[in-house]
Amino acid sequence: MTHSMHFAAVENTTLFRGVDTGLIRELFESRNLETPMMLMSRAEVGRNYEALKAALPRVGIHYAVKSNNEHAIIDEVYARGGNFDVCSAREIDTVLRTGVAPASLIHSHPIKTVSEFDYAVAKGVEIYVIDNAEEINKLQRYADKKLKFMIRFRIKTETTAVVNLQYKFGCTVEEVLPLARAIEAAGHEFYGLCFHIGSQCIYAANYVKAIDAAHDLIHALDMAGLNMRLLDIGGGFPVEYTEPIPSIEELCAPIREALAKKIRPGIKLICEPGRFISASPVTLVSSVIGKAERDGKVWYYLDDGLYSTFSGIVYDHCTYPVVTYRHGNEKLSVLAGPTCDSFDVMYDGLMIPELKVGDAIVFPMTGAYCAASACDFNSLKRPGYNLID
Ligand SMILES: Cc1ncc(COP(=O)(O)O)c(C=O)c1O
Repeated sequence: MTHSMHFAAVENTTLFRGVDTGLIRELFESRNLETPMMLMSRAEVGRNYEALKAALPRVGIHYAVKSNNEHAIIDEVYARGGNFDVCSAREIDTVLRTGVAPASLIHSHPIKTVSEFDYAVAKGVEIYVIDNAEEINKLQRYADKKLKFMIRFRIKTETTAVVNLQYKFGCTVEEVLPLARAIEAAGHEFYGLCFHIGSQCIYAANYVKAIDAAHDLIHALDMAGLNMRLLDIGGGFPVEYTEPIPSIEELCAPIREALAKKIRPGIKLICEPGRFISASPVTLVSSVIGKAERDGKVWYYLDDGLYSTFSGIVYDHCTYPVVTYRHGNEKLSVLAGPTCDSFDVMYDGLMIPELKVGDAIVFPMTGAYCAASACDFNSLKRPGYNLID
């Protein structure tokens, strides 16, 4: 494994983009730290927002709240003119605090419970996503309203993102036209198309292929007299964890070109980034709470684990960089979490200098899909967020 690093080797790199490394050094040097804790940089949220905006100037940003619902992220996105992709009643409430107009939100969940649907409609959310005919049967309840529906389609790609989001949702391109007609027949408005090419996607070609498919679909919809207003190109924009990735500018250049060539100016464009906005602003500081030697390896038990921040390893299939501070011979090591479950092991086979109980270990890039999937197993302390700027 190559993703463990000594602080001295990375303190002047972009790994700690969101955090003053003086603060990290202080945390490493102080004892009796109140850990686990998350350091959150609101300024880094703003930098990410602007980087994506610069890479896709024609595309509006609807931050995917599911990746991290911290208020500081939501407030910064809103302050910069961004909007939101929401999936549930609680996500709606979280973003409405900002004053954002409910009618401008995208409710992106293709399968909604009736109570979730009722709540969103009652709150004034107007734009929804659909990918199947059964969902249209639920629309009879809203006969007094004219809601707007986007159709989510999927395409086949040669490569897949780290998280495949074309498996559970998305109709085939052949199903789009009948669904659009059914939406209109139900008295609502067919509003546009959307796709999600997968999360942590480093392949611009997959976005381009979906944009090509959208282009052909728009032609067919035009012919059928169905008015295409909005194309939502989803999320998926990647961040650098432990492997190099294309820069956002590199990834987006072909996407920008495809949009310019294939999607006429009258169609509004949006995207739904989660990870790209929320991953790098957050850094986890955890402490070694126990230590043992087993089978030739040094086992370190930390105060955060797979049931909390590192749930991202399980559900998001990501591995986070590990930054240590002590010098010395590197030993084959294991990092395990604080619960009593043997499954609660995050890293097995790391080479790191020997640590002591009480030492801190720092994990940058822990903002996306980490706290989001954490649970209360063993009722242990979960890290709170500390705003650092
Ligand atoms: C519908 C939808 N939009 C946006 C996102 C955010 O994706 P990402 O974090 O890859 O940008 C997701 C992630 O699951 C999603 O399901």
